[in-house]
Amino acid sequence: MQHSTIHLTAMKSMALSYLIFMVTIVTAVASPIDNQIHLIMPHSGSAGLKHPDEINCLSWRLAVETDNHKEWSQIPGSCVDYVGHYMLGKQYRDDCEYVATEAYEYAKGLNLTGDGKDVWVFDIDETTLSNLPYYASDNVAFGYIPYNSTAFNEWVRKAVAPAVPGSVKLYKQLVNLGFKIVFLTGSREALLEPRKKNLKAVGYTEWEKLILKGANYSGNAVEYKSGERKKLEEAGYKIRGNMGDQWSDLIGTNPGDRVFKLPDPMYYIA
Ligand SMILES: *[C@@H]1O[C@H](CO)[C@@H](O)[C@H](O)[C@H]1NC(C)=O
Ligand SMILES: *[C@@H]1O[C@H](CO)[C@@H](O)[C@H](O)[C@H]1NC(C)=O
Ligand SMILES: *[C@@H]1O[C@H](CO)[C@@H](O)[C@H](O)[C@H]1NC(C)=O
Ligand SMILES: [Mg+2]
Repeated sequence: MQHSTIHLTAMKSMALSYLIFMVTIVTAVASPIDNQIHLIMPHSGSAGLKHPDEINCLSWRLAVETDNHKEWSQIPGSCVDYVGHYMLGKQYRDDCEYVATEAYEYAKGLNLTGDGKDVWVFDIDETTLSNLPYYASDNVAFGYIPYNSTAFNEWVRKAVAPAVPGSVKLYKQLVNLGFKIVFLTGSREALLEPRKKNLKAVGYTEWEKLILKGANYSGNAVEYKSGERKKLEEAGYKIRGNMGDQWSDLIGTNPGDRVFKLPDPMYYIA
C-alpha cells in the first residue's frame, strides 16, 4: 500500500468506531455552523423526512454527487449506515482512484504551452487530504456530535491527515507532465503551516501557490474560489484542470477548462 493512502490499521480502527457508533442512539442539536460545513448526521431517525425507510441510499448518493440534490445538511438517518460503509470500504477508494485516472487521461492529452502557466487547481479537504480519520473517530463518528469548527481545526493543526486515494499519484503525474500545481482551500490563513506540513508529509512536495482563505473573508465558497481563480487567470495562468469534492469548488466563474468531482457524501459546502 502506498504511503499516500489511508492505512489499513487506521481503516480498521475507523470501522470499529463506526460500528460502535451504529449501536449508539444519537440525539444532537442542530446549530448554526461556521465555515458553511453542514452537519453530517446530527439526528437518528427521520432527519425530517416523512418516509425515511423509502429512501434509496444509492439514489441519494448519486443525487448529491451530481448536485441534483443541493443544499443538504444531513445524511438521511436511514442512510448513515450506508454512507459509513461506503466511506470506510473499498467503493470510496475505487471511486476516487477512477476520477484520478480519468483526470490523468485528460491531462496527458493536453499540449502544454511550456511557459509555466498551465496550472491544475486542487482543493484540499477530501480532494488531496482526507479527514476521514477525524469524521470516523470515536467522538465525531459521522455526526455523533455536531460539526465543531474548534475541534475540526484542532484536527487540522495536527497535520496528520492521510491523502485521498489516488490523489498523490495524480499529483505526481501532473507535475511530471509539466503542470504547475495550485492548492486552493477554504482553510483559513491561520492554518497555513499545518496545511503545508501535512501536504508535504503525504507526498505533495511542491506547488506554485497554496491559497488559503483570509481571516476576515466572509463570502461563500463559490465566491471565494471563483475570485481566487479569476486572480490566477488575470495573472496569466491557464487553469487546465480543476479538481474538488464539492460542487462549490467547481462552479462559478473561471472554473478551468475541465473539472473533476471527487465523491463526498459526508457534507455539503454551499
Ligand atoms: C498537440 O500538438 C501537436 C503538435 O503541434 C499536434 O499534432 C496535436 O494535434 C496537438 N494536440 C492537441 C490535443 O491539441
Ligand atoms: C468544540 O470542540 C472544542 C474542542 O474540542 C470543545 O472544547 C468544545 O466544547 C466543543 N463545542 C461544542 C459546542 O461541543
Ligand atoms: C480582521 O479583522 C480584525 C477585526 O476587525 C482586524 O483586527 C484584523 O486586522 C483583520 N485581519 C486581516 C488579516 O485583515
Ligand atoms: Mg474539499
